[in-house]
Amino acid sequence: MQDALKQKILDHDRLVPRYTSYPTAPHFQPNFPESEYRDWLSTPLAQRERSLYIHIPFCTKMCYYCGCHTHITQKQERVVDYVDTLVAEAALVAGTLPPGTTISHLHFGGGSPTILEPAAFSRMMDRLRKTFIIDSNTRIEMEADPRHMGEARIATYAKNGVSRISLGVQDFDHNVLQAVNRPQPFYLSLEAVSLCRAYDIECINFDLMYGLPGQTVETIRNTCETALLLKPNRIAFFGYAHVPWMKKHMGMLQEDTLPDSSQRYDLFMAGRQIFLDAGYAPVGIDHFVKPSDSMNQALVNHTLRRNFQGYTTDNAPALIGLGASSIGAFPQGYAQNTADLKLYAQKVAEGRLPVSRGARCGRDDAIFASVIQELMCYLRADLQAFENRFSLPAGFFDESLARLAPLAADGLVEIDGKVVRIAPDCEQIARIAAHAFDQYAATQGQAARHSRAI
Ligand SMILES: C[S@@+](CC[C@H](N)C(=O)[O-])C[C@H]1O[C@@H](n2cnc3c(N)ncnc32)[C@H](O)[C@@H]1O
Ligand code: SF4
Repeated sequence: MQDALKQKILDHDRLVPRYTSYPTAPHFQPNFPESEYRDWLSTPLAQRERSLYIHIPFCTKMCYYCGCHTHITQKQERVVDYVDTLVAEAALVAGTLPPGTTISHLHFGGGSPTILEPAAFSRMMDRLRKTFIIDSNTRIEMEADPRHMGEARIATYAKNGVSRISLGVQDFDHNVLQAVNRPQPFYLSLEAVSLCRAYDIECINFDLMYGLPGQTVETIRNTCETALLLKPNRIAFFGYAHVPWMKKHMGMLQEDTLPDSSQRYDLFMAGRQIFLDAGYAPVGIDHFVKPSDSMNQALVNHTLRRNFQGYTTDNAPALIGLGASSIGAFPQGYAQNTADLKLYAQKVAEGRLPVSRGARCGRDDAIFASVIQELMCYLRADLQAFENRFSLPAGFFDESLARLAPLAADGLVEIDGKVVRIAPDCEQIARIAAHAFDQYAATQGQAARHSRAI
């Protein structure tokens, strides 16, 4: 039975986006006008909260699987110079926001924000607090590399109000870590978790990955069971997205050591079972959280969202991206800063917002984005509710439903009237189901930018 289901899922596997936005990033247009971005920033919205995403694109060593925008450096001055530019960009952005705008969420991502030495991190926070309204209501979270944590850093994060740390654990198996150029002994994660708890950083997320070279069901079981010993509040269990045509360093991984689709499925299901048996609640396609965690509450209360950082409880009406390559999400569309560090610094020095690409979202985009978000978060979408909400004619989703028919015929998606549901144990098919609602899906050449769903 389980084998038949697996085979059907594998039969439908293909290259599809991860749907952290819609339209997805490959559909953003180049040369996006700065004046339009400025308008988006300055538009008052019903809520005065905004979210900030701050990108620190530096690491000390390249992980061969890495799909993030990052640069390798050992020079702290280089990172500090970049942060100076980032704070200058923050001032430019803050100058455009409606008066009284507050920051509800502040997320540091990368690269590795933990590369910044403690004093430099505190200086950056002081300057950001002078630039934006960041107060005790602001939820501050950061992505952290266990290889550069340590007490001084963690104490600094706690002092600066960081309340959620997302640790890049990836795997605990020595051989797997060796193969991806990321030696990271267990004690580093243990120490990081213990120190975070000692300093009252209450929410600890682990990033784990499946699909890495040399992983087997046995090694992934060990990794997942070891992870549970440290009692993370949340686990993100990411499928390795192998796109060597976009990220040259992925070519360092020997293709014949990478698990194939069938093995990837087994790896995911093995980890998933361990998390479910341990009482974690599944969220979306790849998250597992303690039932008491705010992300599970958001799932229950139907306030969960998906953005570039994955699943989030953040419900601000706009997300502002700061730093090279950062993407902001607004009711009007998406705006992405240039990823070119030189150009980024040059534009900011000239007093210009460093936006380079973007996508305006029309009414159809908003409709399909809402359905895709619903499917990716809740693995279910009531199309009648969307027809009512957007006053759509009956039959508006007929083409999408027709595209879902093969998945429904194989029992991977259930269609009951206008309710579309991902079948039990089939969450890995959600990206493929979402693709049926993607109006850009047919655009020539875009599939090549994505990774396989399974
Ligand atoms: C910016 S990194 C996290 C912080 C820090 N740089 C680290 O690695 O410890 C974000 C996460 O993305 C995930 N990731 C990176 N490259 C990926 C890829 N190609 N496919 C899937 N997940 C990936 C990893 O789990 C990683 O922890
Ligand atoms: S996974 Fe994290 S530490 Fe590794 S290169 Fe990517 S951003 Fe840097």
